[in-house]
Amino acid sequence: AFTPRVFSGIQPSGGLTLGNYLGAIKRFVDMQDSGIETIYCVVDMHAITVWQDPEALRRQTRELTAGYLASGLDPQKSILFNQSQVAGHAQLGWIFNCVARLGWMNRMTQFKDKAGKNAEKASLGLYAYPALMAADILLYHATHVPVGEDQKQHVELTRDIAAKFNHDYGTEFFPMTEPVIEGAATRVMSLRDGSKKMSKSDPSDASRINMTDDADAIAKKIRKAKTDPDGLPSEVKGLEGRPEARNLVNIYSALSGQGVDEVLAMAGGKQFSEFKPMLVDLAVDKLAPISTEMARLMQDPAQIDAILAAGSDRARAIADPILQKTYEIVGM
Ligand code: ADP
Ligand code: NA
Repeated sequence: AFTPRVFSGIQPSGGLTLGNYLGAIKRFVDMQDSGIETIYCVVDMHAITVWQDPEALRRQTRELTAGYLASGLDPQKSILFNQSQVAGHAQLGWIFNCVARLGWMNRMTQFKDKAGKNAEKASLGLYAYPALMAADILLYHATHVPVGEDQKQHVELTRDIAAKFNHDYGTEFFPMTEPVIEGAATRVMSLRDGSKKMSKSDPSDASRINMTDDADAIAKKIRKAKTDPDGLPSEVKGLEGRPEARNLVNIYSALSGQGVDEVLAMAGGKQFSEFKPMLVDLAVDKLAPISTEMARLMQDPAQIDAILAAGSDRARAIADPILQKTYEIVGM
């Protein structure tokens, strides 16, 4: 049996969105006090699977770390570090490139989305990304990975890689990691199009709330968010087939900590013209302190770097023996 351990990561590939916050960071913070060891990573090696300007990458790495800290991650309670500073990720990633099958990688829908029509021009790293993600997780024998719904397929691949490694080498060395996909905000949708997920890579800034948006920007985006002509239903089934309405209710639920049914019990019967200002107040109330704290932390980059350096020492202390044992099992 494996000791429960939580691992997750976010790419420093642009500004954080409300989707990253509700689908990932807020849940990382909740798990931090669960008594289970929690390890959270800035996955810069994943970010460079698509072009990143070096100065921008350095800044985004610090900004994401500031976002983690400002949201309540405590470097005493959780290990916070940057992926490229722990060489074991690349080393185990290579071994897993040799375990994963091409057929498995060909089924990854995120590669198809990100590579677009011209897949010939995508980097080899973008294609291999899920095998590196398996290494990120299994380098710590992590048993639980809190993620948004878009990452479910990659965690399943991690299990396939662990199972094939264990089978091929006749061992039980790697755990079968569980994705933890919970809450009302496992898939926050674009504010402009209820069929697309909210993403930092969406060309329309109005489609997302950025964690660095000020109160005016948040208010404007929520006021302009697409909805349908009907008001709020008083029961959850009244949200069926209404993705934009459902999304705003889900966001309210996740930010307030109330269940979707509780939100509807309170707001059912209201028009969106009345509900949106309530959502604006709630969002500003929850997000403004985080963006203020992020800005404050960003004034001292040396302190952020020191936190990441200390975190990578702690990460290495767990990873090194697991990597060494993996090498032994493989015959290296
Ligand atoms: P992005 O998709 O914004 O580039 P990442 O791939 O780095 O971000 O994902 C970081 C975490 O945020 C993952 O756990 C992912 O599932 C989660 N996440 C990203 N977008 C959303 C969203 N719209 N709703 C919920 N969770 C999301
Ligand atoms: Na993602």
